[in-house]
Formats: sequence, structure tokens, C-alpha cells
Amino acid sequence: MPTPESRAQELRQILNEHSYRYYVLNAPTITDAEYDALYHELVALETAHPHLIMPDSPTQRAGSDLTDDFPKVEHPAPILSLGNAFSDDDLWAWEERNLKLLPSGTQLAYMLEPKLDGLTVVIHYDNGVLVKAATRGNGRVGDDVTANVRTIRTVPLRIPATGDIAPPRHIVVRGEVLFLKHDFNALNERQREAGLPLYVNARNTASGTLKQKDSRITASRPLTCYLYDIVDISPDDIHGKPIYLPTQQAMLDYMRDMGFFIPPESHLYPTLSHIIQQIPTWIEKRHALDFEIDGLVIKVNDRKIDAELGVVGKDPRGAIAYKFPAEEATTTLKAVVVNIGRTGKLTPTASLEPVFVGGVTVSNATMHNYKFIAELDVRLGDKVVIKRSGDVIPYVIGPVPDLRDGTEQPILPPTHCPVCHTPIIQPEGAVDHFCPNTACPERVYRSIEFFVSRGAMDIEGMGGQTVKQLIEAGFIHDEADIFALKADDLLTLDGFAQKKVDNLLASIEKAKSRPLAQLLASLGIDGVGSTVAQSLADKFRSIRALMDADVQAIQEIDGIGDVLAENIVAWFDDDHHQRLIAKLTAAGVNMQAGEKTVLGDALAGKTFVLTGTLPTLSREKATELIEAHGGKVSSSVSKKTSYVLMGDSPGSKAEKAAQLGVPIIDEQAFLQMLE
Ligand code: IVH
Repeated sequence: MPTPESRAQELRQILNEHSYRYYVLNAPTITDAEYDALYHELVALETAHPHLIMPDSPTQRAGSDLTDDFPKVEHPAPILSLGNAFSDDDLWAWEERNLKLLPSGTQLAYMLEPKLDGLTVVIHYDNGVLVKAATRGNGRVGDDVTANVRTIRTVPLRIPATGDIAPPRHIVVRGEVLFLKHDFNALNERQREAGLPLYVNARNTASGTLKQKDSRITASRPLTCYLYDIVDISPDDIHGKPIYLPTQQAMLDYMRDMGFFIPPESHLYPTLSHIIQQIPTWIEKRHALDFEIDGLVIKVNDRKIDAELGVVGKDPRGAIAYKFPAEEATTTLKAVVVNIGRTGKLTPTASLEPVFVGGVTVSNATMHNYKFIAELDVRLGDKVVIKRSGDVIPYVIGPVPDLRDGTEQPILPPTHCPVCHTPIIQPEGAVDHFCPNTACPERVYRSIEFFVSRGAMDIEGMGGQTVKQLIEAGFIHDEADIFALKADDLLTLDGFAQKKVDNLLASIEKAKSRPLAQLLASLGIDGVGSTVAQSLADKFRSIRALMDADVQAIQEIDGIGDVLAENIVAWFDDDHHQRLIAKLTAAGVNMQAGEKTVLGDALAGKTFVLTGTLPTLSREKATELIEAHGGKVSSSVSKKTSYVLMGDSPGSKAEKAAQLGVPIIDEQAFLQMLE
């Protein structure tokens, strides 16, 4: 058992080292959550044993980002940090502590702002002109990054940016520099195209970009800066008129009027209860925002009260950070399991020491492909950082090489399919490895599972479990066998009584008359989702005609390039697939497109791209409506796209639309167009 003395010393040493890695080297090797846990352990020790507080304790200063490369700037006032809250109870305790320091009966109203996950910058304006910008540094002195900050397009070089209000004689504002998510993705897209390594973490990249010695590099990367605080301001404006900013809200309004980019969705609430009520909404919408947030900041609105409350250590009492549950965690990679998808693609999946992250216990995470494993040199037995954010499947971010003990083993792609033992291939130029055997039992299982799923042929009552049972019992060997299932066979299966069998057979019967596009999208042809399937059905009108088509004819369809066209032709050329189509036809599954309905020409000449899940319309229905009104549906966004019709959890198409300035509409606006 270490003594409190020895543990405190150890924690000081570990935390200081990680602070250096994080701030100076810009290359952290532990997660924020781990750092926080160690930091809090030290705070607890020091609180219980105040004699353990040493001048070199990280609790005695905020981490420093100072480097020798830049001239130093002294801040006009300390650049404070914030205390953390992790629960509603922490927030109540914070308010209670504050109320004790204030005259009894004081009512506190609060501003609620997103806690932007970037890095602090402090910007000085004299007579409305940007004259200096600095990093936070150690809170007292920062690095002069004026040339770099001038390249950030959201930072006004002169205030007010518009209008004829007078600027203050002097003002120093504070804010957060970061990459908007769509800008960060675009930056990585550029890296990918240039064959350069991708940036993993937006915050660290923003930090590295802000501290570039050559500001042309900074200028070439699309940083953004939100400003949320006034560090210092002259009492009057350039005409001598006094400036009066009694509240946090008035301050933000004033900053907005001056042309500063202030944190979006910052609102005033009359009580702490109202603030707490907002937290679940923020957690829910967090991932739909175009900027990363790691929590919320709650600030006493009345600036006089805020000043009275003062500062404890490096944190003002009048504001607090509510931190969201950590989405990243470190755990041990115990084994790698290979998943084989319906296209034969191998996905290496990490078996992990279970770890609590993003609100659930995670024991599996995807590692994408073997190229990822090789590039990041992930090894068996490694400590790995995993991420679980929102509804996204947990994934491995990378290993922590510092924590290796030498027993870790390299991870190589299998030479043969673990299920059917066919040699594994990696097509030239491809990132992924494949089992090329279309009759591989695992591929067959995944294909059938996909075929029956919602959004595909939608056979109610037939999930993956039932598919497995049917394959194991030898009743089905491919998708077409489903249509030959007999009640007597089904009744022999575990858990199948008469009613369940009747229902299942009825939904199988119903599936026979699904539209051609739906059948095409259910076959699991790589790259043929519902939009491409609809275009194919529209052009060729029958499976027969599509099977007879060559690459050139398919490529004539808007949104289908040569790679996809070749893929489609190759799929229909495969013997196994030809037999499947013949069996489906014989089973009575619909292979023709129906007559086209015409409802009007309100959308004539307009091209739509669909993304995300719409509140009421299915993709098929939306496509049908667009076409019935004379419009077209395309699968990719380009300058020629008229509208992007966006639902929940949209993909990168929405980002692309925003970049190209293509209007984005929701279902309601779309339906109005039809009226
Ligand atoms: S207020 C005294 N507001 O979070 C003013 N900070 O954990 C203290 N941050 O160092 C800061 N968004 O870099 C404030 N809306 C926001 C913020 C914000 C992000 C950062 C800031 C601060 C850190 C504290």
C-alpha cells in the first residue's frame, strides 16, 4: 500500500508528464478521462492532506502550452479555467456553495453555452483593429500567434464587422479555436487525395495548426474561432460613450454586434432547474452539431455577482463546466475476431477487456480493416484507445505504445477464410481483404440476413436468429429457398408454433410482390443501395434487361460511375448469382418494374439527393413521389443537385451539400413543394 505521500508524488510526476505530452508535444498518450481520474485522485489526496500540496503539483497551475518558438504575450488578466461537474448533484452543490457566499434570497439566473472542444485564444483590439492574439499559455503569459489568428476567417480583423456602432477603445476577447466537423473532414479528404496520413483528432490538429511557425500553413487549413468572453475592456468607446455590460447575456449580444462569432445556441435560463432540464437535449443533439463539444458551460448571468463570487485557485466560482460522459477509454485488446460480410469483406473486430464508455459496457470494437491495423501498428495484447460516440459502432482509435511490455504480438490478415478455407484475396488498390467464395456459408448467411431485413425485402418475423435456425436445419441454402419454405418444415423448428408459422409464411408471400427496385437493393450488390437500385429499375424495367446490359449502358445512369457499373455487371455474371435469380424468378418473386405513376410536374427538371431517415416517408416512397412529380433522384451530391432531402442521422451528403451551397430541405418542406 503506498503512503499518501508517495502516491501524491507519483501522481504529480505522472500528471506533469502527461500535461507536457498534451500541451507541448500535442501528442497525448492517455485519454482525457484517464487524466481527469488521476487528477481527481490527487485533488482528493491534497484536500485530505493539505501538507502534500507542493509547488510542482499540477493542481497549482493549469497546464501550459508555452513553447520557445513564439514571442510571449502577457495577458491583461488571468486566463482562468473552469471547475468541473459530472452530475446534476455536482451542479446543485455548486449553486449551494455560491448561494452561501451571497446575500440571502439571491436568485441566480444562468447562461448555458456549449463547451467547445478546442483551444483557448486571447485576441486584442485597439480602436477596433486586431493588434495581437495569444494562446492561453500558463494563464498569465501566452504565445504570440497573431499572424496565425489573422488567417482564421471567422475572426474579424476590424470591429464592428458591419454597421456603424462605435467600437470600444480597447477590448481583449477570449474564445476557442477549433475545426468545424465538415472542415476537418474536408481537410482529411485532401490528405487522402494527396496520399498523406490522415489527422486522427480534430482538437490536436487545431492546436498544431494554431502553433504553426509558418502562418501560410495555418491559412491553408480551415480553422474556426468562437468567442465567448471579454477579458478586458476600456470603460468607453472611441467616442467616449460609456460601455455598460451588466450581464453575461448582454456581453454576448455586444460581442455579436461587434461581429464576433459567438457560441451558437447560447441561452439564458431563469434557474438551475431549467438548465438541468436542458442537459438531456444537448446530449442527444451533440453529435448532430457541426462542432465538437465535450460538455456545457453554465455561467452566472449577473456579472456583478460573478465578480463578487471571485476565484478559487484557477477557477471562477461563477461558472462551471458540465462534462459529458467520456466517449473514449483505454482497455486491453485480448483477441481479434474476423467478421465476414455478405460481400466477402473481412472486418477485423477487437475482443476487449470490457470497459465502460459512452454510457455502456463495451467488449467488442471494430478495427475497420487490416490496413488500419498495419498503419497504426496495433498489436495483440496492446492497450488500445476505443471510442463510442452516439449510435456509432464502437471503434478502435489506436494503440498506446508507451504501455507495452514487449509481449504484444503483430496482427496479420488470415491467409484463408476461417469459415470456408478459400484463400483470402486483396484486390489491387483495395483497402480491404475478401473471401472471394460466393458460396461461403458465412457470406450466404449474411446475404440472407440482409435480404430479409427491414429496408430490404422486409420479411416480418424473420430476423438473423431465424435465418440461422433455417440454415442449420438445412431448409434454406440461399435467398430463394425462403420462398419454398413449408409449414410442416417450420413446425419442426424450436419455438415455432402454428400461429408464428402462419404469420411468417404470410409475410414471405407478401415479399414476392415487392417493387423491382426493392428487390435489387436487397441482393447485396456492393454499391447498390436504394437510390442506385431505383435508377437501375427505372432504366431497365426488368431484371432480364439489367442482366443483358453492358457496363456502358449502366454507366449512362446519372450517379453511376465505371467502377460501380463494372461491379454490377460482375455480380450478375457470377454463376451462383445467376442461379439465384433463376430460382427467385421460378419462386414467383416480382422481377418487373410497375407502370410509372404521374402525379404532376411540380419537380420537373429538379434533381434530388436523399440522406438520413425521414420522419414519415420511406426512401422508396420519397423516390416514387419525386419521380411521379417529374423530378429525378441521384445518389451523389454535385453542383447539379437541386436539393438535398435530409432526415435524421444524415451522412456526408449533407456536409457536401453545405460545402457546395446546395439547398438542404426537410420532409415538410419537400411535401410543400408537391402541393
Ligand atoms: S468560459 C472564466 N465558455 O473550456 C471563463 N469556456 O474547461 C472561463 N471552453 O479553458 C471559460 N467553451 O477553453 C468558457 N462557452 C465556453 C467554453 C469554454 C469551451 C473551454 C475554455 C476553458 C475550458 C475550461
